Amino acid sequence: MVFSVRRPEVVVEPGKDGTKSKYWIEQHYTYIATTTHDPENLPLVIERGEGVWLFDVDGNKYLDFSSGIGVNNLGYPTHPEVKKAIIEQLEKLAHGAGTDYFNPYQVMLAKKLVEIAPGGYRRKVFFANSGTEANEAALKISRQATGRKFFIAFYGGFHGRTMGSMGLTASKPIHKKLFFPWMPGVVHVPYPNPYRNPWHIDGYENPGELINRVLEFIEEYVFDKLIPADEVAAVFAEPIQGEGGYVVPPREFFRELKKLLDKYGILFVADEVQMGMGRTGRMFAIEHFNTVPEIITLAKALSGGAIPIGATVFKADLDFKAHGMHSNTYGGNALAAIAALKTVEIIETLLPHVQNLEKVFRERLEELKEKYPSVGDVRGIGLAWGVEFVKDKSSKQPAPDVRNKIVARALRKGLALLPCGKSSIRLIPPLIISEEEALLGLKIFEESVKETA
Ligand SMILES: Cc1ncc(COP(=O)(O)O)c(C=O)c1O
Repeated sequence: MVFSVRRPEVVVEPGKDGTKSKYWIEQHYTYIATTTHDPENLPLVIERGEGVWLFDVDGNKYLDFSSGIGVNNLGYPTHPEVKKAIIEQLEKLAHGAGTDYFNPYQVMLAKKLVEIAPGGYRRKVFFANSGTEANEAALKISRQATGRKFFIAFYGGFHGRTMGSMGLTASKPIHKKLFFPWMPGVVHVPYPNPYRNPWHIDGYENPGELINRVLEFIEEYVFDKLIPADEVAAVFAEPIQGEGGYVVPPREFFRELKKLLDKYGILFVADEVQMGMGRTGRMFAIEHFNTVPEIITLAKALSGGAIPIGATVFKADLDFKAHGMHSNTYGGNALAAIAALKTVEIIETLLPHVQNLEKVFRERLEELKEKYPSVGDVRGIGLAWGVEFVKDKSSKQPAPDVRNKIVARALRKGLALLPCGKSSIRLIPPLIISEEEALLGLKIFEESVKETA
């Protein structure tokens, strides 16, 4: 597929003469529940997509640096090979009551996921429809396998919005406000954020010190109040925090954490819902940290954006002890399974490309950090990049207003971005982006920063 790399020509400013966009946004608010939209800064009404380009209902063209929040890793509308696999599957079987009858398609996908999961354990898979459900399954697997009730999760982490995974989530207060009681029994601890942590350690200069402080906190505070070997079932962590701001911890962190957990038989769950499926240039982000989790949760990009699916890939001996302890209706149905299988095969071929593009992003974004006082931190691996905006570099005070203005300005210039964390922007294009397209997006991003900051 060849798509033009012409600069997007956004001639219509939505809200002014973007009449159709305005109409659909109004209709949206009339009929659809209030969720997470920001019509002031992101009034994008998508009609269709082509490669890494989005087209709105008014005919404007945008370069996509958001991948549908980490879903459309293979671009738009649907990768031709995934589409072909879906159509062939539709002609055979879309849904076959996969929780009561058996079908080969789920088994084929499960086998593939087990083969590609980081080594060390014999594994099995539970299929769901979303990230939050994949995490719910991980919670239940951990509790019933260990007989322990408590969990540890990290401040800044996002694991979903259902009552169980919401208990793990510690991202924005609005996620939990008015919803207590969610699942009790989660203790939160600081994430090893090299730029912004409770101890004011520069984690880029002193990664070892930062790691030690986090582990000491767990050992000296949490394990002083809970009996780790009796009460703590699992630790949930995003290998790179996504909603929290695309925060990359020191490379040794998870290995050291895992050593501590192994002392007490505590399970390690890597939530790869946003960072998995090739986003970082490895199939799973945790592979960059040389750590083998007992449980991995997946969703978002797993089926290439075509059909919803979630998966919990776990050490086989943690399996549910009896039929009926956990199940669902639609999870990983035949259609979703085949779409995901094809997606995984394509992502495997894209990994070297993602690794190459990492250099382009690192170079350009590091330059921005040097040039602009509002750019406090730049971090990322592969095609998972976060840029954090601050009032000034020395105080590191978050600048959400500046961030929001940059997102809005970039959109008007034809670049679709998404915010994350308190004052960060994520740059996460589809993995199929060419270097030329990546450079164009980074150029528009820089212009937007320059004109705002
Ligand atoms: C790391 C992580 N886990 C879980 C979820 C929840 O996934 P879903 O929205 O599919 O329930 C998200 C969603 O953003 C996520 O980023």
